[in-house]
Amino acid sequence: MKLTLETLQDTARLAEIVAAHSRPRDMILLAGEMGAGKTTFTQSFGRALGVTEPITSPTFNLLHNYGTGRMALHHADLYRLERTGELTDLGLDELQDSGGVVIVEWGDIVGDDLGDALIIKISHSEDVDKVESRTVEIDLRGAQWANRWQKLTDELVAKLNSSVRGLTQ
Ligand SMILES: Nc1ncnc2c1ncn2[C@@H]1O[C@H](COP(=O)(O)OP(=O)(O)OP(=O)(O)O)[C@@H](O)[C@H]1O
Ligand SMILES: [Mg+2]
Repeated sequence: MKLTLETLQDTARLAEIVAAHSRPRDMILLAGEMGAGKTTFTQSFGRALGVTEPITSPTFNLLHNYGTGRMALHHADLYRLERTGELTDLGLDELQDSGGVVIVEWGDIVGDDLGDALIIKISHSEDVDKVESRTVEIDLRGAQWANRWQKLTDELVAKLNSSVRGLTQ
């Protein structure tokens, strides 16, 4: 499905809704160019889970872990991944198995390696004057999110209604 978010507040709302539908062992991949809003999305997602620590970009460390929410949040950023072996070293599979939710910025650059996931691609508006406007495409891969997809997209339509444009669910 495709949404248009007009403001930063809409991105926060999107993150809150996705967080409300998230369960232990979920994988969420965030795609989109630099400055699109992947870290910003994760900050709102984490706050919605109840994470109390500040959530900062894991661009340099590749992975940050937060344990204060209703489930663990593991936040990775693959932008600086130099060898595919490094992906294995990060141990995202094990973290996922241990019962947290894993959010991966630039998760699209490793192809299908991360398995079943909700995939959220955030893009800047074509209109450069609309600094807070973003286009968001949400897709799923595999069975993990399949049985929640209808409820999730229904809620996004209902609660981000004023911002939904050209819905192609
Ligand atoms: N609707 C919006 N959604 C998300 N971020 C927005 C929005 N409007 C403005 N912004 C701003 O855009 C910037 C997004 O930066 P952010 O670090 O989240 O991007 P990123 O996708 O994580 O980039 P990188 O690939 O460098 O990690 C922030 O300064 C944020 O305040
Ligand atoms: Mg980022």
